[in-house]
Amino acid sequence: MSEILLQIDGKEVKATEGMTILDAAKSAGIHIPTLCHHEKLEPYGGCRLCTVEIETRGRSRLVAGCLFPVQADLIVRTRTEEVDKLRKTIIELLMAHAPDSFELLALAEEYGADRNRFEKESSFCLLCGLCVRYCNEVKKKSAITFVDCGAERQINFIPEIAAQECWNCKECFPLCPTSYLQAAYFLTEALAFPRAKEVPAK
Ligand code: SF4
Ligand code: FES
Repeated sequence: MSEILLQIDGKEVKATEGMTILDAAKSAGIHIPTLCHHEKLEPYGGCRLCTVEIETRGRSRLVAGCLFPVQADLIVRTRTEEVDKLRKTIIELLMAHAPDSFELLALAEEYGADRNRFEKESSFCLLCGLCVRYCNEVKKKSAITFVDCGAERQINFIPEIAAQECWNCKECFPLCPTSYLQAAYFLTEALAFPRAKEVPAK
């Protein structure tokens, strides 16, 4: 595989064809924040938190680091004023949905984001798709899916599949950047197995 030389934050980085900017940065010990990325999953490009500035032929633009492939002589800047400002706004928008997510709180501190900037619509789901994609791509079970679209979009377990598969798996739980996934699962479980939740008579 051919070697590609690029520059990230002023450092010369060696990468190979097929790597993304995020892969190359990681290999060089340069941190780019992500929310919807997981190394076992196909790149998704949903959260845009990994946005970086790239320069090619003297022109700069913003791209998603988890999707953009490395190119020879690419110049990447991971912490410009514009990049940080965009990340701050993304974090603030996501915090309207999950204001108590530890992952978001840590990012808010780093980027000076205001958790109360946007009106709260606590769905607790950031629609990062990690749970849905993990179940589909890694477990090949499709027990969890997106339903509805636009502002109504949310995740849901398919009770018939969840009843068979989820109890012994739960591998998607720790991937969730909020607590929504657990809540959704237990709600589904309660609906799917109402008897199992009944307190036995004394
Ligand atoms: S439930 Fe969690 S992991 Fe699943 S899409 Fe929502 S935020 Fe992402
Ligand atoms: S990590 Fe790149 S868009 Fe979410």
